[in-house]
Amino acid sequence: MFIALSVSAEPSVERQGYLDKLLKQDCGSCHGLTLKGGLGSAIRPQDISERSDEALFSTIKLGLPGLAMPPWGELLSDSDIQWLVDRLRKGETE
Ligand code: HEC
Repeated sequence: MFIALSVSAEPSVERQGYLDKLLKQDCGSCHGLTLKGGLGSAIRPQDISERSDEALFSTIKLGLPGLAMPPWGELLSDSDIQWLVDRLRKGETE
């Protein structure tokens, strides 16, 4: 499957707030509040440093069939997902 990575528009500031909350509450419910792992693997910057943006993007968009990682493509736009990938690269600090 081809996935375009050249997403130009950033999500709005409001949308970024929503995505930040989603990351803590929904992603955090499996990956841990500080993303250092739980049911889902640790996804801090040091944990995903060997993954390409494309791999992270498609994992979030399509999920991991056979593992508990759900697909988010229905709920999130490509620019939302790209923003989350960038956010994961920067790390979750609070
Ligand atoms: C229902 C539990 C669950 C939720 C909710 C969830 N994940 Fe996951 N996620 C998993 C599992 C399980 C894996 C696979 C872990 C493994 O490889 O053993 C995974 C894998 C991943 C990976 C791949 C990590 C790697 O090493 O390549 C990323 C990135 C990721 N999740 C991001 C997210 C994001 C972002 C969200 C929120 C939008 C999210 N996940 C929500 C369970 C979840």
